[in-house]
Amino acid sequence: MGKKLFIKTQGCQMNEYDSDRMQDLLNLSHGFETTTNEEEADLILLNTCSIREKAQEKVFHQLGRWKKLKEKNPNLKIGVGGCVASQEGEEIAKRSPQVDLIFGPQTIHRVPSLYENAKNKDTTAIDTSFPKTEKFEYLPSSPGQGPSAFVSIMEGCNKYCSFCVVPHTRGNEISRPLEDIVKEAKDLSLKGVVEISLLGQNVNSYRDSKVRTKGLGLSNLIREVSTIDGIERISFTTSHPFEFGQDLINIYEEIPELISYVHLPVQSGSDEILKLMRRRHTREEYFELIDKLRDARPGISLSSDFIIGFPGETDKNFQDTMDLVDKVGYDESFSFIYSPRPNTTAKDLEDNVPMEVKKERLSLLQQKLENSALSISRKMVGETRKCLVTGVSKKNPGEFQARADNNKVVIFSCNDSSLIGKFVNIEMVEAKTKSLRGVMTA
Ligand code: SAH
Ligand code: F3S
Repeated sequence: MGKKLFIKTQGCQMNEYDSDRMQDLLNLSHGFETTTNEEEADLILLNTCSIREKAQEKVFHQLGRWKKLKEKNPNLKIGVGGCVASQEGEEIAKRSPQVDLIFGPQTIHRVPSLYENAKNKDTTAIDTSFPKTEKFEYLPSSPGQGPSAFVSIMEGCNKYCSFCVVPHTRGNEISRPLEDIVKEAKDLSLKGVVEISLLGQNVNSYRDSKVRTKGLGLSNLIREVSTIDGIERISFTTSHPFEFGQDLINIYEEIPELISYVHLPVQSGSDEILKLMRRRHTREEYFELIDKLRDARPGISLSSDFIIGFPGETDKNFQDTMDLVDKVGYDESFSFIYSPRPNTTAKDLEDNVPMEVKKERLSLLQQKLENSALSISRKMVGETRKCLVTGVSKKNPGEFQARADNNKVVIFSCNDSSLIGKFVNIEMVEAKTKSLRGVMTA
């Protein structure tokens, strides 16, 4: 019987992508098959997130639970990767001797050899380095399941926003060569993929690293990917409002394959807080950017991330954020209570907003964001949109799920599974908080 692999993934899409790649890699190297039952696993991997403290606490709880599995199955090996491993590798080895291998986001390609070492030794195999040679050179190409696929275009971040741990855990920015990305996208399209999401922590810093085209950025990459036969939709995430240049705005006019949706995290609507966060732009500059985007692509949907209760955030600062949300009108967005993180510069600022105030502000903001997203859905009711059928509805297997051209999830009744991966026209009939209900037209 083949060996079984169980992977648990916390955090962002980058981690999801890395976990998928590790799965492919371990399948090739050791014939591992993925299981959803941790009890029958021969290797368990935890791909961790350290963006907020809560995520980090979960790691040790989880490892405690898995310790018991090892008592039942002494051959079981446990590995920890991702951003907590990158920052706390030695600490994990000390506190949790049941862990056999530890690796960082930049060393996932070495997991098969770390596993080999761990099989033969009692000590923990650790590699959380940031090797200069890119991990992508060692990763197998994605098998491409379903109509949509992520393609990682860059790693790391150099922005050093004052609250953010990412530059410390994922290292400095490294872009993949354009021709490698285009090749991966072409391979995926041959496997039936029609939608490509270009992925990175800070994709608008993307620069092709090949000498011939050195320095060409994200807009050029989008143009190249749009010429691939079969790729009918392109999106990217995540971009920073700083460095969202005119070329990237123009591309919304030029490339119809680019979806009418952009995740553009603003974090706060207050200039004072934006400065303390080292976001490198003002509230006014953000509004100007959005105006330009809406000129280039009328009706484009926007979403954002927000941090509430950053050190020194006054009621007035918070009201500025609420006001910004009213002015922009966001689609489904994410909001979090500020969490001080190791090695960041904001960690030295006094975390002086009381927790009750943070919670109250968060709940007011989330209410507003929910209403804002719902009003976008309501405006769509009655319209017919071109939607990509992505699969069977998660909640109701009798129904299908699709995504409209502005990324909204649409649920509709249908029993023709050959439509999965195809584009259909759907008339929107009802708006819900997180999705719309629609009826397929011709
Ligand atoms: N470049 C990535 C950033 C990843 S972090 C992106 O823009 O998506 C994702 C979100 O987590 C950030 O946008 C921010 O809103 C939130 N976040 C990051 N550090 C945080 C912290 N210390 N406390 C609370 N939220 C944080
Ligand atoms: Fe983090 Fe800011 Fe980069 S939020 S990932 S340091 S752009």
